[in-house]
Amino acid sequence: MDFQGRHFLSTRELTRDSLGAVFRVADLLAPVAQGRATTRVLEGAVLGSLFFEASTRTRLSFEAAFQRLGGAVVNTTGFTFSSIAKGESIYDTARVVSGYVDTVVMRHPEERAIHEFAEATHIPVINGGNGAGEHPTQALLDIYTIEKEFARIGRPVDGARIALVGDLKYGRTVHSLIHILSLYQGLQLSLVAPEPLRMPAELVEHARSRGHTIVEHDEVARGVTGADLIYATRVQKERFAEGELSADYAPDFQISLGILNAHGTPHTIVMHPLPRDSRPGANDLAQDLNTDPRLAIFRQTDNGVPVRMALFALTLGVADGIEKTFQPA
Ligand code: CP
Repeated sequence: MDFQGRHFLSTRELTRDSLGAVFRVADLLAPVAQGRATTRVLEGAVLGSLFFEASTRTRLSFEAAFQRLGGAVVNTTGFTFSSIAKGESIYDTARVVSGYVDTVVMRHPEERAIHEFAEATHIPVINGGNGAGEHPTQALLDIYTIEKEFARIGRPVDGARIALVGDLKYGRTVHSLIHILSLYQGLQLSLVAPEPLRMPAELVEHARSRGHTIVEHDEVARGVTGADLIYATRVQKERFAEGELSADYAPDFQISLGILNAHGTPHTIVMHPLPRDSRPGANDLAQDLNTDPRLAIFRQTDNGVPVRMALFALTLGVADGIEKTFQPA
């Protein structure tokens, strides 16, 4: 896909070439993301950051990315402080905000809201997470991280054994990621989830139709055995329908040092989109992995800034020759 002037709502639109374009620009922008160089290439441009659902890393990394490119950010968070609380429609919000800013990133708990917003505006709209639908920029930074981690251990991503673990029904990051993974060749995908939280069949069939081997598991130990990459996710209890799962539903899907040592390999990469749940009884990713070099979660979050900078540069048409605008920090 060509990003310039376009919305980015779903990873379904991506190709290997468009991934390569993002990776190239993100690599160029890494010194700016890390504060080792500066650029003002987006001076005069304004980002509208509209987050109607909780966020730490997506909102802050988008806003940091735009500001590190020299742009300005205006934002609203939650429903309470926007006029949606007074009954304003998504259509009206989109028309109004489009008069103030050059591009928008929006997160909204309803899947359809991002599409309503995008249809109502002429400025590029980026999906920062739409309910249980997709989180396409998370998947972009995930695949950028996967490429770098596999390069670190000296293996190609094509042909890899990858386990996606946890809430694969409501976890929007894995919905976006499986589309991107499907662009690779010959993956062995292990989908590890409790029966009620399995990956939607349509997404499984799409990956299968692209020639990947897919096995579904409802038990962690077997599902992650020998994996090159374990991608854990949090159970999205906030998205469960009333009475969908019983109150005592607490399957043990935690990835811990014990699980990794018993069923992984010395090179198994562990990722998670975060946040991980640190409350008692949480079961996604244990804290006992924090000092294990196989845990890539903070390298993953760091990659959010250059990847989102690259997306802005490509969408707003300033990527060509961007390195010539750099100044030493
Ligand atoms: N990964 C992710 O979307 O994190 P936040 O909810 O903190 O933005």
